[in-house]
Amino acid sequence: MAADGIELKTADQIRAMRRAGLVVARALEAMAAAAQPGATTADLDVVARATLEAAGAQSSFLGYSPGWGMPPYPAVVCVSVNEVVVHGIPSDRVLCEGDLVSIDFGASLDGWHGDAAVTVEVGSAAPAARALSEATRQALWAGLGAARIGGRVGDVSAAVERRARQLGRFGVVRDYTGHGIGSAMHQDPDVPNYGRPRRGPVLVEGLCLAVEPMLTAGSPRTASLEDDWTVVTVDGSWAAHWEHTVALTAKGLWVLTAPDGGEAELTARGLPFGPLDD
Ligand code: MF3
Ligand code: CO
Repeated sequence: MAADGIELKTADQIRAMRRAGLVVARALEAMAAAAQPGATTADLDVVARATLEAAGAQSSFLGYSPGWGMPPYPAVVCVSVNEVVVHGIPSDRVLCEGDLVSIDFGASLDGWHGDAAVTVEVGSAAPAARALSEATRQALWAGLGAARIGGRVGDVSAAVERRARQLGRFGVVRDYTGHGIGSAMHQDPDVPNYGRPRRGPVLVEGLCLAVEPMLTAGSPRTASLEDDWTVVTVDGSWAAHWEHTVALTAKGLWVLTAPDGGEAELTARGLPFGPLDD
């Protein structure tokens, strides 16, 4: 634990987080494949539970409450369709051709957490929806690429926002942020998806972050539904959400929830890929 209350991880703890991250990656892959026309959002929850069971892992989401009287989250995955930004609760809602679905999943193994999200098209989506998702994914990788030892959280935030604004007239959601992650899913520091470089906590070796931009095709403003969880855009515009859990190692970045550890995306951007040896 650093002096500012930020939990820094040892090499062995980061290796444990990689094992959790791979469970998350596997579950997301299975759910993405299951997100076909005619499937319900609850079907994805069933798929994710099977992955947890097979891995002997625990859900980070089931029963989670951030406090302030929020009811415990009732599922292992968040499935957010079209104008739902985040925290969509799996239900009997049937997925239709052209829907844009964000799938957000967290798991812990031996007490160490991984958290990631992808956005998928059901069948094939309209070009504007595809562009929204791709811009969000690009903004995520721009933010990850700005995470380096000696930098600051604001460098990541500013890079996410800058890339999002470069790619189109998207709403950059400000009501929800990324976060530190480790022995709990949500830790300090917050990682906003907007801000100024060279501000905020310093990035040091052993820091692990979940970076998770949410973009909309319209207004960035959001509202919660009666169930207290489901977050929608106020203007009904569609949203996308991408997330990875990463570790800062002496060699560079290790994307714990990417099957390849982030090697392909990082090296394509000329950025240092920093996995730890087994
Ligand atoms: N990735 C989301 C987050 O970091 C998932 C939280 S869903 C919850 O906020 F159910 F666990 F709250
Ligand atoms: Co998260």
